[in-house]
Amino acid sequence: LLSQMGPDAHMRMILRKQPSERTADDLEIIYEELLHIKALSHLSTTVKRELAGVLIFESHAKAGTVLFNQGEEGTSWYIILKGSVNVVIYGKGVVCTLHEGDDFGKLALVNDAPRAASIVLREDNCHFLRVDKEDFNRILRDVEANTVRLKEHDQDVLVLEKSLSSSRTSIHGATSSHYKYTVMSGTPEKILEHFLEMMRLDSEFTESDPALDDFVLMHCVFIPNSQLCPVLMASQGSEQEKLDYTLNNKRRVIRLVMRWAAVHGDHLQEEDTSVAFLEEFLIAVSNDARMILALKDQLPELERIVKQNARSTQKKHKVLLRQFSMGDEKLQKRQPIKSNDEILFKVYCCDHTYTTIRVPVAASVREVISAVADKLGSAEDLLLVNLSSAGEKVIFKPNDVSVFSSLSINGRLFACSRDQLDSLTPLPEQEGPSSGSVSSFELMSSKDVAYHMTMYDWELFHCVHEHELIYHTFGRQNFKKTTVNLDLFLRRFNEIQLWVITELCLCTPLSKRVQLLKKFIKIAAHCKEYKNLNAFFAIIMGISNPAVSRLSQTWEKLPSKFKKFYGEFENLMDPSRNHRAYRLAVAKLEPPIIPFMPLLIKDMTFTHEGNKTFIDSLVNFEKMRMIASTVKTVRYCRSQPFNSSQASKNHPEVRSYVRQLSVIDNQRTLTQLSHGLEPRRS
Ligand code: CMP
Repeated sequence: LLSQMGPDAHMRMILRKQPSERTADDLEIIYEELLHIKALSHLSTTVKRELAGVLIFESHAKAGTVLFNQGEEGTSWYIILKGSVNVVIYGKGVVCTLHEGDDFGKLALVNDAPRAASIVLREDNCHFLRVDKEDFNRILRDVEANTVRLKEHDQDVLVLEKSLSSSRTSIHGATSSHYKYTVMSGTPEKILEHFLEMMRLDSEFTESDPALDDFVLMHCVFIPNSQLCPVLMASQGSEQEKLDYTLNNKRRVIRLVMRWAAVHGDHLQEEDTSVAFLEEFLIAVSNDARMILALKDQLPELERIVKQNARSTQKKHKVLLRQFSMGDEKLQKRQPIKSNDEILFKVYCCDHTYTTIRVPVAASVREVISAVADKLGSAEDLLLVNLSSAGEKVIFKPNDVSVFSSLSINGRLFACSRDQLDSLTPLPEQEGPSSGSVSSFELMSSKDVAYHMTMYDWELFHCVHEHELIYHTFGRQNFKKTTVNLDLFLRRFNEIQLWVITELCLCTPLSKRVQLLKKFIKIAAHCKEYKNLNAFFAIIMGISNPAVSRLSQTWEKLPSKFKKFYGEFENLMDPSRNHRAYRLAVAKLEPPIIPFMPLLIKDMTFTHEGNKTFIDSLVNFEKMRMIASTVKTVRYCRSQPFNSSQASKNHPEVRSYVRQLSVIDNQRTLTQLSHGLEPRRS
């Protein structure tokens, strides 16, 4: 009996002493004991020696004792010396069991968050080592394990990693930085649960919570609305659970739902499940608010949102669009195009006859083909092809969606059987103009042209929904949603570029061509002043196209002032060091900004291709965060409206000119024209 009491009992006696009463010998004994504890094995000697001075022994006699409850403020970190505990979560029950050598309770300490679970003794007579918050923060916060894996039923459900985060602490804007656990990967439900728990109810609703924002923006990639809505409905909690916990949780879910509705915007109305969910959710909250007065203050805002998306006011009338590429449609102010808007579109056959089909914008290639087959009355296996003006053919895949907006600039949609493929020839109209528009264009001031181009670009840019960037990156066919507004904005970039080349290559008199080149450089400069970097880049890229850059007689006559401007602009486009020059320049600008969109797209595609979406079947949330940060760049660029002192001036002819550019999109034709203007010097 004595030997059983031996070192163990002695240890306990020492550990029960007030830390200030521990002797040097005591500390040495504790330190040696700590060497055998799994939960501390990664810590340095110094840290262990420091811990020896602050660890407190705690024991509990009865199974079922609650060490702490989910939702409470965290005050200590624990290591199990003897016995075992259950980790219990509201609505889930026991999610896992921790044993001798395991530790728990540091999440709340490191993140200043409420306890993510309750801890309940699983057997009588359990022993713990405890480190209280202040000591923990002083000794351990910065050195504690970098990765935390939370398990439920023996499966990893959330992987957190410690990283430096800075937060504004005072009204003077001083930032302090310290380590926090951020989500690296997890199951969709656990990630959601974690962000809800981390949500601060004391902050203003309008103040955005970055982690939550990322979730709301990106969830479409790993948990679509049809699955998210039921989870949200359920996670409000039920009455049997502890009331104050439930209350806070309800308020958190309400906030999340409001953010969610705001980010999805008008797109929600297109999804019956989401609209139904909002209505059901409002009823549930209204019922709760009768019992729980604290919910009342959130009710009006929620009601407003639900009304906005209500099924009854939903526009039953779908907008009908004609072919985007032509016509007066471009003169009207642009409205965002939605997935179930319909479009009238010409599809050509190999004999250049066409049928006009009417389908939803997000229709798949398969659906477009069957609409064409219906019209043609043919059951033949048809292919859908983008035929470019140069005669290049791209066959669309059956699952692809929203093909209309992915055609090349002068491309047309053809339907034919496989053996007709070789005989497809472009329509004469695809060639583009045979004479330039310099005679009308030279009368317009460069500044007015830049202004109206920027107005148009703003319309196009504004129509792009944040989610389109995500659909585009992850493959729109996976979402069956349209990216048409983004496509049209990206097309505009190519169009401007080709316009510059076309006009210069169609301008025969040398002196006029020099004037025109000067004018394009001036327009680029004005676009840059308007912070329209997209059009700016498009113009400069047009000028640097080989068909233009080889026109040495034209360049020789260009005044040196303009050569210098152009040189500076070209430097901004220098792609080296990952477009460093551009990135530095744009970082200095205040919104409103129209960014160089192809680069943002490239950034997201790189992130997507370089990182898996799932790691061991958990959502790779770090990747979500990286992509969300690019989307947030776009959000920042658009956070201020574009208005200019010029707005009062009205130039209908300039306005309609810049909206209806007509271009040659065949590089070979452009090069031939260029050689015709200035033959190679022999
Ligand atoms: P904390 O949130 O401080 O308090 C509850 C602790 O339970 C938590 O830190 C983790 O250390 C631990 N825990 C273990 N498994 C889980 C789990 N699946 N979910 C939440 N917490 C868990």
